[in-house]
Amino acid sequence: MNKILYIQASPREHRSKSIALADAFIESYRQSHPDDRIETLNLFETDLVEFGAQAVQAKYAILHGRQQTPEELAAWQEVQTVIDNFKSADKFVLAVPMWNFGIPYRLKQYIDVIVQPTLTFSYSPTDGYAGLVVGKSAFIAYARGGDYSSQQSQAFDFQKRYIESILAFIGFSDIRSIVVEPTLMAGPDIAAKKLAEAIGQAKRLGSEF
Ligand SMILES: Cc1cc2nc3c(=O)[nH]c(=O)nc-3n(C[C@H](O)[C@H](O)[C@H](O)COP(=O)(O)O)c2cc1C
Repeated sequence: MNKILYIQASPREHRSKSIALADAFIESYRQSHPDDRIETLNLFETDLVEFGAQAVQAKYAILHGRQQTPEELAAWQEVQTVIDNFKSADKFVLAVPMWNFGIPYRLKQYIDVIVQPTLTFSYSPTDGYAGLVVGKSAFIAYARGGDYSSQQSQAFDFQKRYIESILAFIGFSDIRSIVVEPTLMAGPDIAAKKLAEAIGQAKRLGSEF
């Protein structure tokens, strides 16, 4: 039995296009993998762990080979709990809106918590960086108000490029995705048509995940 961590990064609930797309993927996945367990984490409905002074110092203690103080250790243990839950999943599904050409701040906070030396990546002067979250698959449903498919507008896409770079950095090599765009700028009819097309694609990909 595999565990799927389904991370939703939109606060828009039933109005969210990225969640609608990821939900279709999940539903199709569930039908073809009825025994797997799906854990849903909406980052706007969860108390996220802070990554403040003590946690940052705890991270630098690891990087500089210094022992953590009790306060740093306490902050680090909270970080470790989030990472343990993340790493306990075999497959990941993410619903990610574009916000200001990038990702919503709650998802960035979650990423700043889970991307950590010795836990999700390693570094050595001889071998450089290596991801430690290996052998897992990810599917990402992206939604954007505008259309970033032309070569000129792709330069503004810090959403898909960032998510896929950071997942690759921590070890993912199997990253699949669907983009739904434009969800706003071309009006509701085009948005509905694009979403329906993307949902059809998501249903196909979901059964093969
Ligand atoms: C705070 C905020 C910032 C946004 N910034 C952008 C942007 O930079 N580019 C864009 O194309 N759409 C932008 N949008 C529109 C969303 O990407 C679009 O509505 C998308 O469908 C949101 O995903 P969701 O439907 O899953 O919530 C923004 C929306 C919000 C709320």
